[in-house]
Formats: sequence, structure tokens, C-alpha cells
Amino acid sequence: MRIGFVGTGGIANYHLEHLVKIKEAEIVALCDVAEERAKRAAKKYGGTAYSDYKKMLDKEKLDALYICVPPFAHQSQELLAAEREIPFFVEKPIAISLDYTKKVEGEIAKKNLITAVGYQDRYQDIAGYVKKLLAGKKVGLFLGYWMGGMPGVSWWRRKEQSGGQAVEQTTHIFDLARYLFGEVEKVAAFGRTGLMEDIENYNVEDASSATLYFKNGVIGTIFSACFLSYQGKCGMDIYLKNLAIEYKERISIKITEPSKSTEINVGNDFGLLEDQIFVEAVKKKDSSKIRSSYGDAVKTLAVTLAVNESIASGKPVEVKY
Ligand SMILES: NC(=O)c1ccc[n+]([C@@H]2O[C@H](COP(=O)([O-])OP(=O)(O)OC[C@H]3O[C@@H](n4cnc5c(N)ncnc54)[C@H](O)[C@@H]3O)[C@@H](O)[C@H]2O)c1
Repeated sequence: MRIGFVGTGGIANYHLEHLVKIKEAEIVALCDVAEERAKRAAKKYGGTAYSDYKKMLDKEKLDALYICVPPFAHQSQELLAAEREIPFFVEKPIAISLDYTKKVEGEIAKKNLITAVGYQDRYQDIAGYVKKLLAGKKVGLFLGYWMGGMPGVSWWRRKEQSGGQAVEQTTHIFDLARYLFGEVEKVAAFGRTGLMEDIENYNVEDASSATLYFKNGVIGTIFSACFLSYQGKCGMDIYLKNLAIEYKERISIKITEPSKSTEINVGNDFGLLEDQIFVEAVKKKDSSKIRSSYGDAVKTLAVTLAVNESIASGKPVEVKY
């Protein structure tokens, strides 16, 4: 399977490390606007280096494309891949505006294209376990968290480039909430600033809280914070009448019932699994095992953009899918 990459930064290398372990996968082309990065990756993983993805797509015959660019840099990669009927894997968040994603969704539907999005937490064995455990049960409420320090990549601190923390980072928690509880009807969110004044060129919220109302009545609040200089907290606490689940992101779950409590550590390489499932889906032309498709990720983006809208307006916002 001839695979190309657009973007060869941090997360691209994560996928490349997985793909070298998958025997069907061959890396044939790597593109980055910072050409030396593409060259470095090509030296390590094979393939031809490019600095312009349009040229790469014109020259190479690809069976699959990985799109691993920052949130603001989704310009036409997905549309061009769809035009050429190349299945693609794209990193979250899939963009910072719904206008672009709607166009892409239209092209995907026309071509019946296989797509996957890097919501890797869905591939944890413990996430599957929680989903099964909750099936048919009534969830009362939940708390979600992504509280830690500021990521090092330069684009992250500019809201017009990353979308802010809810869109770029806490999106994993918003997405898992959708995976476990269903669709969100409305959002009421607040944000604050003033703690990161020592950081240059910074204009995202330092912290936010977003209360979500789901179509099935579940309520939950998801906290984001990027000002911590000590061990933070990422995960979710889920409360039912006779059951509580404490999920520590990418680490473990603790299940508490009235008479006992059980702890389960994550037991699989979920990052590798998401790449294996994508490659397998392309090979078999069967997307049934993919746990996050482009169309599904549009809905997570819509929720996090509604959070931004609510922070800006100070009012609750209905999520538009
Ligand atoms: N799923 C996860 O757990 C996870 C983890 C980290 C990052 N991500 C996501 O992956 C994306 C990339 O993050 P990263 O940490 O790899 O960032 P990065 O800055 O390390 O890498 C992005 C690369 O894309 C390149 N680039 C930008 N515009 C381009 C274009 N038009 N054509 C070709 N290359 C271009 C940049 O030069 C850079 O090398 C982000 O959306 C981020 O949210 C996901």
C-alpha cells in the first residue's frame, strides 16, 4: 500500500513509527512546508520528500494519504485526496471552521471514500470496555478534564491557528463524551485569561469550563486548562445511580459500585491499533472497524466550535451539525 504524508511534524512521526510495523504499508512520499523535515523523515522511513502537497499528489500514485498538519493548515488536502479517490487519515481537529469540513464531507460522500480521524482514545481497550458497560444504562452526569501545561508547538498559542484548547486538545475529551453518551444539543461555556501574561504571542484562553446538554438528557462539564506547571489531570468521571467510572486518560479506569471497586489499566497499543485498522480498512475497502470517520469528527468539531461561540457571546449555543 503506497502511503503519502502531508505534514511530517510530531504526530506524523508517531504514525510513521506505527506504519513501519505494518507489513502492507510502504511510505512513498512525504511533504512538509518545512522541507528539511520532509527530507529527514524520507531519510528515516523512505519515500520522496516534497514541500508542496499539490505537486506530491500530481506526481505520486498513492493508495492512502495521512494529513498531519496544524488545525489552520487544512487548505485543500482533503478535497484533493477525495478528488483523486485516495482514502485518507486526518489528524484531529480536522479544521477550525465547519464551512471547509462541509465541502470535504460532500466530496467524501460522492466518492464513498474511506476516511479516519486521529481520535486515538476511542481505540483504547478501556474505552471499549466503558462503552459496553454503559450500554442500556442511564448516565446521570459527568465531569471531563484536560488540565495541564501549554504544548510547545508555536501555532498552539494563537487561537486563529489552533482554534484554542477546547478545539485542539480537550477535543479528545469532547469526542470521547460523544462516543460514550451520544450527541450534544447545546453548550454553555466560560473562559478566562490573565494567568499566562509571561508567554509571548499568546491569545488563547488559559482555562475554560463548558457545560454540555446531550439529546438524551445527560449533562456534563468539561474543563480545559493550560496554565499548570505541575502534574495535571486528563480524563473523565462518570456517575450513574449504582456505578461510578473514573477514567484517567490513556492510563486506567476505576469502576466503583456500592459493594466493590475494580481498577483496569489500559492494555493495548491503541495508537498502533488505529493505524492498523485504517490500513486494513483501505485494503479490504471496508470501513466498519474505523471508530472515528471524517463525518463523525465534524460533529466533535461542531461541539468545540460551539464552546468557543458560547465563550465569546456569554450565551448558551445550540450545536449545529
Ligand atoms: N491524535 C493525537 O493524539 C494528536 C497528538 C498530537 C498532535 N495531534 C494533531 O496533529 C496535528 C499536527 O500536530 P503536530 O504536533 O504534529 O504539529 P507539528 O507542528 O509538530 O507538525 C505539523 C507539521 O505540518 C507542517 N505543515 C504545515 N502546513 C503544511 C502544509 N500546508 N503542507 C505541508 N506541511 C505543512 C509543519 O511545517 C509541521 O512540520 C494537529 O492538528 C494536532 O492537533 C494529534
